[in-house]
Amino acid sequence: MQKIVQTEQLPTINALKESTSNAWIEQALSNLDIILLDHSHCERKAAGVALNFMFAYPSNTKMVRELTKIAQEELEHFELVNQWLERRNIPLAPLPPPPYGAALKAQVRPHKPYKFLDSLLVTGLIEARSHERLGLLATHCPEPELARFYKGLMASEARHFGVYWVLADTYFDRQIVMERLDELAVVESEILSTLHPEPRIHS
Ligand SMILES: [Fe+2]
Ligand SMILES: [Fe+2]
Repeated sequence: MQKIVQTEQLPTINALKESTSNAWIEQALSNLDIILLDHSHCERKAAGVALNFMFAYPSNTKMVRELTKIAQEELEHFELVNQWLERRNIPLAPLPPPPYGAALKAQVRPHKPYKFLDSLLVTGLIEARSHERLGLLATHCPEPELARFYKGLMASEARHFGVYWVLADTYFDRQIVMERLDELAVVESEILSTLHPEPRIHS
């Protein structure tokens, strides 16, 4: 078991109800190659999610403008992670996802207009959690170059949370957004309260 050393504190997003456990950090640090492979899948999916919003709501001009940028950035991240995979001779293989994404998606109400609100907030929470966990990898990863890579990505994921939040706030009442974000954040932390046995970014 690796020792978790508390070093430099990186910025956090206070939308998250519970911080990630040391158990996850230990699991991730013992499985850096699998974490990199899962990370590649996460970046590709993040780009896909941004695109899917544009297919579902093509007339929401502000949303389309913001998510065009996010989709491009996530694809850039995808490419960067894939370069790390190549360097380490990790094939771009499929990997079963942890229950996290599906469990969160199940929280999205199926009817208008709340489907849109919930989808924005769930996506924002996933970005916030990615930001937190990439930050933990940046702090604790024993390989300095890889640690720097994680640190470089963190800022974008924090910004992405901000964009999804601002979009929710653009299309819905502030009060409704805050209340729903609070509810979903409780569920998000609850899903992660039991560590998934397979190492993943969101295990
Ligand atoms: Fe990303
Ligand atoms: Fe992102």
